[in-house]
Amino acid sequence: MVLEHTLSIIKPNAINKHVIGDIIKRFEDNKLFVVGLKMLKLNFHQVLFIYNEHKNKLFFNDLLKFMTSNPVVLLVLEGDNAINRNRLIIGHTNPIHAIPGTIRKDYADNITENAIHGSASKEAAKKEIYYLFKKDEIYKKIY
Ligand code: CMP
Repeated sequence: MVLEHTLSIIKPNAINKHVIGDIIKRFEDNKLFVVGLKMLKLNFHQVLFIYNEHKNKLFFNDLLKFMTSNPVVLLVLEGDNAINRNRLIIGHTNPIHAIPGTIRKDYADNITENAIHGSASKEAAKKEIYYLFKKDEIYKKIY
């Protein structure tokens, strides 16, 4: 057992589809437990921080506009091998390549509006979680 924490962001298009509950259920059914949760509208600085590695990409402006267009839900998830398993449940970045049963296959509209984000690595998870959550907003080892 490798207990890890990871960050997921339920993106504005998934919020508009009213599938917050379904997405959280998919994580809980797979033993990825919510230990931190908040809804907010991200600002330019927060999106730039989270997606800093993409800031020079052609799609960055569209991504910025999309991610600040409506509220998102931030989730800190805890579980065995949480970072990799979260990404498997989410599915491929591009919904065209996402396999059936994954969140993106079901709820992504296109590669930018792809319903959900999941931390890509241990380093990214740590960076994203502690930028978006205060330590006392995370309730670790609740089960
Ligand atoms: P996410 O997993 O949140 O991480 C980076 C995001 O940038 C990604 O999901 C997409 O929303 C977006 N993205 C990545 N690659 C592309 C691309 N080639 N074209 C448009 N948007 C992209």
